[in-house]
Amino acid sequence: MLLDQTVDLVRRGYVFTAWARRRRSSDEAARRPRYAVSVRLLGRPATVVGGPDGVRLFYDQTLMRRRRAMPAAVARPLFGRGAVHGLDGDEHQQRKAMFVDALMDEKGVADLMDLADELLVEAIRVWRGDGKGVVYPTTTEVYGRAVLRWAGVDVPPRRELRVARDLARIVDGFATPGLPYLSAWRRRLACDRWAARLVRDVREGRRTPPADSVLERVSRQRGTDGELLDAHTAGVELQNVLRPTVAVARFAAFAALALADQPEWRARVSAEVRERGSAVAGPLATAFAQEVRRLYPFVPLLAAVARQSTSFEQCPIPAGRRVLLDVMATNHDPQEWPSPNTFDPERFLGTGAEWSPPFVPQGGGRPETGHRCPGELVTVGLLALTIARLAELDGRLDRSQDAGWSWGRVPALPRSGVVITLDDPAA
Ligand code: HEM
Repeated sequence: MLLDQTVDLVRRGYVFTAWARRRRSSDEAARRPRYAVSVRLLGRPATVVGGPDGVRLFYDQTLMRRRRAMPAAVARPLFGRGAVHGLDGDEHQQRKAMFVDALMDEKGVADLMDLADELLVEAIRVWRGDGKGVVYPTTTEVYGRAVLRWAGVDVPPRRELRVARDLARIVDGFATPGLPYLSAWRRRLACDRWAARLVRDVREGRRTPPADSVLERVSRQRGTDGELLDAHTAGVELQNVLRPTVAVARFAAFAALALADQPEWRARVSAEVRERGSAVAGPLATAFAQEVRRLYPFVPLLAAVARQSTSFEQCPIPAGRRVLLDVMATNHDPQEWPSPNTFDPERFLGTGAEWSPPFVPQGGGRPETGHRCPGELVTVGLLALTIARLAELDGRLDRSQDAGWSWGRVPALPRSGVVITLDDPAA
């Protein structure tokens, strides 16, 4: 029997599955699987799947469920109790429709982009005054403020900042034992209280958010029993829009590194902004954003549980077995992505690759019918906007910084937050 590997997962992070594959049993290796490997986590066996076939299996809802798929110790601080992520069947469908309606509406997303662009331009003006800026904290603040206003959460600017930082801490610490984890929990409890109070204020007439804003939608959302969601759960779902939007700042930090490595692309994107007269939704900046999502680390694995016995790459998966989708390896699969470790946004220029099965930075399948992230338009839109504004900037990476990251720390982030020095502070 395999020894428990939970500690290895926590220590190795993004490289855990590659490590496990190298150590797989001769019995398993004899079937010559590409992805499949049995591991043992939290005292239970689990099977790793990946690649387009693994994605199809993982998103087959007749075969997989989500309830209790992710250990509560990480799901609770990250997503919150009662969140959409752990629902199945009708309950999931009904809850998910609210997110899809709110987050996949083109006009709604465009409004969010305009808000974010205004705040980003203002933040970059402050950078110019200072002669430098740091991408991660700045975009955490900008995205946080923009999404709070867009979601109909009208609070004073200092509160906006506090909420953005607290939500960022939750993402930062939920999978790192010790102080980061405790800090994530502390912020989770505080944010849960705050968000439930907002929902009660709306229901009791003390606040009137705009019609169809996210705050208004979660406040009137009902469960399959026809009853309003309890205030805690409604608040959790409000945060399931706010928190991941703030977390896009992690990709923004990687995007800034990628831009510094790709002067030709930087010139192309900057020319695109000039030609279009807008930094929002440029096709080149969008392709660049997609390639950032494919190449850089964020989500390492996703979890489901087999409803019935099945198999993958000839490895049996009994009913009740936890199944892990290897997100990172699928996004870097050499059979699907030529030169998978080369940064090349052309892969996404008019190819439709962003909806192809091996592209799973935010899950696979369709958001309308399965668990795929409903926030991809928001993520890609914010990233493309930020890439466009950074490309225009006459800045370079500060030489003294350590912009490296650890492959063992989930989620990853360049240690410096990515410091940009501006050549002419007075410009
Ligand atoms: C920072 C970039 C983001 C990443 C890496 C990311 C990643 C993911 C992943 C991997 C899933 C789970 C897919 C699955 O279980 O099959 C997911 C689900 C979800 N995401 Fe995102 N996401 C991001 C941004 C966003 C944004 C901006 C929003 C909202 C504005 C959002 C809202 C959600 C929600 C509500 C779910 C639950 C969907 C469900 O269970 O049906 N995410 N995301």
